[in-house]
Amino acid sequence: MALNASDSDASNSGQFKIGGDMTINRLGFGAMRVTGPGIWGEPKDRTEAIATLKRLPELGVNFIDTADSYGPETSELLLREALAPYKGLLIATKGGLTRHGPDKWMPVGRAEYLRQCVLLSLRRLNIERIDLWQLHRIDPKTPREEQFSVIRDMQAEGLIRHVGLSEVNVKDIEAAQAYFPVTTVQNRYNLTDRAHEAVLDHCTKHKIGFIPWYPLAAGDLARPGSMLDNVAQKMDATPSQVALAWVLKRSPVMLPIPGTSKVKHLEENVAAASLQLSDEDFHALDEAGRKVSKAA
Ligand SMILES: NC(=O)c1ccc[n+]([C@@H]2O[C@H](COP(=O)([O-])OP(=O)(O)OC[C@H]3O[C@@H](n4cnc5c(N)ncnc54)[C@H](OP(=O)(O)O)[C@@H]3O)[C@@H](O)[C@H]2O)c1
Repeated sequence: MALNASDSDASNSGQFKIGGDMTINRLGFGAMRVTGPGIWGEPKDRTEAIATLKRLPELGVNFIDTADSYGPETSELLLREALAPYKGLLIATKGGLTRHGPDKWMPVGRAEYLRQCVLLSLRRLNIERIDLWQLHRIDPKTPREEQFSVIRDMQAEGLIRHVGLSEVNVKDIEAAQAYFPVTTVQNRYNLTDRAHEAVLDHCTKHKIGFIPWYPLAAGDLARPGSMLDNVAQKMDATPSQVALAWVLKRSPVMLPIPGTSKVKHLEENVAAASLQLSDEDFHALDEAGRKVSKAA
């Protein structure tokens, strides 16, 4: 099966209801890479970055992940420039990480700060409510009661519709559920990075959306010569497409958000929604991926 740009339609990945009421196509987009090196400042090629974002709705991508800390601010502002008023799109953003320079991220979970994160994301995106707001990290220095309570309050006030968590374990999810329904979990996960299998199984069981960040291992799984090559060649697909098709098949709650700043890579990635792996290939890759993950 040859995959090309005309096969790019994210709706072929199937649908999921965020919080049980907001339907999205499962293959989404991560808007972290439309920033400068170290996720700091403006992207090197701003025109291409904007073109990439504008292409999303044309390809049926209606679930877009960002964060106030990407740039910081840059990703949210570019999304607004390219896509406001976001007709038919669900923009999921995050807060709770401060930025002190390229590649530097520090959690702050004080109630006043989390409230500021939400209010400023609303202003930058020019919206009245955030459909999915995710706590980027639980701050170990701030009592959980303080962090979870302010999120519950902001949801009650209508500033955010649904709440997600990021980089959490099952106990964290259960602790947060005492304050608000946890509708999504965003953890690092891909074929060869399987540390969060237990969290994924928990999410699958409870129909919580699981958003695997780093689904292409920042491009490593997209390179020719990777362990995906054989299957890719057999299916006339690219390694990145096989990597994405594999995560999509792994669970019906899986909502991958591959990131790119290039139209060509976006089209290639979205075409993965049309790639159906056989059970045999899926299991062979699964086994090989687990071995790599254990050895790492
Ligand atoms: N919750 C968290 O803590 C957290 C942390 C990190 C990321 N995230 C989210 O997860 C999203 C995805 O993670 P990620 O961006 O780190 O990793 P990723 O999606 O695995 O990889 C993105 C990288 O792969 C390259 N790439 C993408 N498609 C490609 C293709 N078809 N061929 C070759 N290279 C390709 C991109 O470069 P080009 O721009 O050159 O295409 C980019 O550098 C982010 O955008 C962000 O929204 C969340």
